[in-house]
Amino acid sequence: MIPKPVRDIMNEQIKNEFESYYLYLSMIAYFHEQNLDGMAHWMRVQAHEETTHAMKFFDHIIDRGGEVALLDLKQLKLAWKTPLEAWKDAYAHEQFITAKIHAIVKVVREENDYTAEPMMNWFVKEQIEEEKNTDGISRQLERIGASKDGLYMLDKELAARAWPAGSCFDPLSYNLPGA
Ligand SMILES: [Fe+2]
Ligand SMILES: [Fe+2]
Repeated sequence: MIPKPVRDIMNEQIKNEFESYYLYLSMIAYFHEQNLDGMAHWMRVQAHEETTHAMKFFDHIIDRGGEVALLDLKQLKLAWKTPLEAWKDAYAHEQFITAKIHAIVKVVREENDYTAEPMMNWFVKEQIEEEKNTDGISRQLERIGASKDGLYMLDKELAARAWPAGSCFDPLSYNLPGA
């Protein structure tokens, strides 16, 4: 049985991960408006990842006989002035998520909940990647400055991010011919 404090904070995290999804969905729309389809694509793959993060917590609670509580989602932000502002927000948001993951680890330790530790170790490591990616792209954009060519090249590069196999978020999976 999952300890109640662990269940409660994991239910909070399901919400946080879906709010990440929602935030990144807003950024996808913004990037498309700016004709930055590569950035939009990269964020689509990231948005997909966020739903898998939420579902890892969802399944963990269910598998351990706990009750899932789906909390209300907030729309965190809808508009940005520049692509750099959006990427900096993504980085700041991932730092916020890292703090939330660490807070879960703290509760897991206080409750001696050894069963939750392997999954939480995975999330601690995953957050290194999430911060590195969003910070890295922010820094590249800063270096590019006002160069249109630089922005074009970076956008092309971000268009190459691979979908996880069989992703239902890949537009190819839902824009089927004749459908
Ligand atoms: Fe996440
Ligand atoms: Fe990731």
